[in-house]
Amino acid sequence: MRMQHDARWFADPSAFKPERFARDAVPTQRGAWSPFGMGPRVCLGQHLAMTEMTVIAAMLLQRCTLAVPDGMAAPRPVLNVTLRPQAPLHLALAPA
Ligand code: HEM
Repeated sequence: MRMQHDARWFADPSAFKPERFARDAVPTQRGAWSPFGMGPRVCLGQHLAMTEMTVIAAMLLQRCTLAVPDGMAAPRPVLNVTLRPQAPLHLALAPA
């Protein structure tokens, strides 16, 4: 079982609840969520990755609205160093 799916640290762990990570959310056990690893082999790119994701999300969401196209099945996550969808994920982008 992946740490992030352990109900000892996360209530209803399989549910998509991004509010778990909100600034005012109740903090969980330190280290229970460590997508970049820990210790001497911790990810060298973690700060770049977080900055890139924030900038890309901000630029995209200012300009576009994302929607799930009709008939698109829920993605099946596959663990391959990071989690990724088994099949390509399609999203419809419309100007905001
Ligand atoms: C969302 C993006 C990323 C995730 C989730 C991620 C996650 C990880 C994880 C889990 C490890 C292994 C840590 C361990 O063995 O304990 C790792 C190692 C590493 N990551 Fe990342 N990473 C990301 C982006 C990046 C980026 C953008 C770079 C470089 C620009 C990078 C460079 C590295 C390097 C060089 C290591 C090896 C560190 C070592 O073994 O000393 N990563 N990353």
